Amino acid sequence: MAKQRITIAIDGHSSAGKSTMAKALAKELNYFYIDTGAMYRGVTLFAMKERYVMNGCIDESGLEEALDRLFLTFRFNPSTECSEMHLGGTNIEKEIRTMEVAKNVSLVAKIPAVRKKLVALQRRLAEGDSVVMDGRDIGTVVLPNAELKFFMTADPEVRAWRRLRELQENGKEVTFDEVLENVLERDRIDSERAVAPLKQADDAVVIDNSNLTMEEQYQFMLNLAKKRMEH
Ligand code: DC
Repeated sequence: MAKQRITIAIDGHSSAGKSTMAKALAKELNYFYIDTGAMYRGVTLFAMKERYVMNGCIDESGLEEALDRLFLTFRFNPSTECSEMHLGGTNIEKEIRTMEVAKNVSLVAKIPAVRKKLVALQRRLAEGDSVVMDGRDIGTVVLPNAELKFFMTADPEVRAWRRLRELQENGKEVTFDEVLENVLERDRIDSERAVAPLKQADDAVVIDNSNLTMEEQYQFMLNLAKKRMEH
């Protein structure tokens, strides 16, 4: 039977493992992976560099006006086999993964003008391609007609341990408490914001991976994707 190309939306809480699964599925299915969190992190780095964000305060109207000067693109890096985030031509993939960016990103992501610009860009990127897109509002707002939607979550402590390991592997000096606090704070801001809050789409498949291995959840998600592609 001919396989149908579908769109896969993956939403969920911070550090629930969305991007690991999205990348693995995209690679296996030969789909284009779009990490929308990287885009919000990119705007945040831009806002920090241009001093619209300082000491946890944001100059919202200044940042809004500056959005016309913001050029974010993904470029494929053959050596990492990943699409990496670029700001005005400079690779910012490493810089956007720091705790400093993580601390400010939810504040920037709740600005309506920022979301409007990024959602339009995300829809354009998904046009005419088979994509796996991950984020917080993909199944609800960006691609509500996606054929397959997942909502991934796990206990906050489990997510914080995973994130801590990842940061430490990248040589970052942070404590478990600091990471847990950031995870909880981002959950709170992401879920409570007025525009496109984090919530599961009615037709999403919910995966709580607190007690699942990567392989178990990967196989589960891949099987579902393959089933949907046969319809
Ligand atoms: O997935 P991530 O942790 O890299 O995302 C970083 C932040 O961006 C997250 O705290 C919330 C925000 N975000 C969002 O508001 N909407 C999306 N579609 C993706 C991310």
